Amino acid sequence: MKMKKSLLSVVLMAVPLFSHAKGEIRSGQLWPDNHGVHVNAHGGGILYHRGTYYWFGEHKAENTSNAMVGVMCYSSKNLTDWKNEGVALAVSDEQGSDIEKGCILERPKVIYNAKTHKFVMWFHLELKGLGYRAARAGVAVADKVTGPYHFLRSQRVNAYRYPLNVTESEKAAMAKLQPKDYAEWWTPKWRRAIEKGLFLQRDLSTGQMARDQTVYVDDDGKAYHIFSSEDNLTLQIAELSEDYTFHTGRFVRVAAGGQNEAPAIFKKDGTYWMITSGCTGWEPNKARMFSARDIMGPWKQHESPCVGPKADLTFGGQSTYVLKVEGRRDAFIFMADIWRPKHPSDARYIWLPIDFKNGLPVVEWRDEWTLEYFKVDK
Ligand code: DGJ
Repeated sequence: MKMKKSLLSVVLMAVPLFSHAKGEIRSGQLWPDNHGVHVNAHGGGILYHRGTYYWFGEHKAENTSNAMVGVMCYSSKNLTDWKNEGVALAVSDEQGSDIEKGCILERPKVIYNAKTHKFVMWFHLELKGLGYRAARAGVAVADKVTGPYHFLRSQRVNAYRYPLNVTESEKAAMAKLQPKDYAEWWTPKWRRAIEKGLFLQRDLSTGQMARDQTVYVDDDGKAYHIFSSEDNLTLQIAELSEDYTFHTGRFVRVAAGGQNEAPAIFKKDGTYWMITSGCTGWEPNKARMFSARDIMGPWKQHESPCVGPKADLTFGGQSTYVLKVEGRRDAFIFMADIWRPKHPSDARYIWLPIDFKNGLPVVEWRDEWTLEYFKVDK
């Protein structure tokens, strides 16, 4: 009898582990980890390292979106069974620390530097108590993929640098733009000034604002930081130093005045694709898509990649990352977050396969699917 009881409890305990049975990916559902607890890694990204996927994301509390814990890490070999590896980057108890508990720490992404053998984490940081005013990029490093990550610094980026994709005469025109001449926002005159670099010029001496973000390592080992800048009105793509922990000063503006957030980037057959969202806080909106043959541009805008029911609101989510699946041909997963601002830790994940139709990425909702969707790479 005793034996039977303990067998039963083992079976019951194991139930949550297998709600991803048969490797199914169910967007919008609870995703239990190895302890049966919903994965807490929001606004995240995934690093594939030596045969294992590592998912890093924001730990969200029950009732606040501010960072009370830090960045979580989960590992998996099959993308459906996730082991909680604990806190990769912890917020600090020290008062006045850039990453003091209660700060806003969003959209962390980790890349591996093959030269330094270090893991480098970049994230969007807002100093405690300042709302979204600081608009800084934070960086932390670790010797081990799961951490602990050591916080290096946070700052705005590329102070005193002009983008590569402005001509000398555009630079001269930008230098004359003064915010006091454009006090009223959203007028056609203000929009034209934004496109010409009103806020870039305003932030020249302090460095550019950096909010929603991702990082990308190209085939040649160079890394890039892609972020919403200029008060979320314009994206910037900035080259990182060889060790991936600094900006080199080389950057471009993308979609000036287009109000893009949540950039997620991938490359297929030599073309870079970037999926973004509009700016509507925690509410979903229609995804956008861009492509380029060179990561530093020029970038061309396309229609949203999302099609079918609920596509106009990105299926209720906001992009965060595009994951390349190893060992499968042309296999990319669109990752997004369904935010729950009233109960942040209950936010859900959308993972959907990316199809390619007439050369364009296409994303369609699926209640459940498996990696078998993709062909095995031979
Ligand atoms: C949208 C961003 O994409 C999120 O990461 C977060 O910053 C929210 N805005 C806050 O409203």
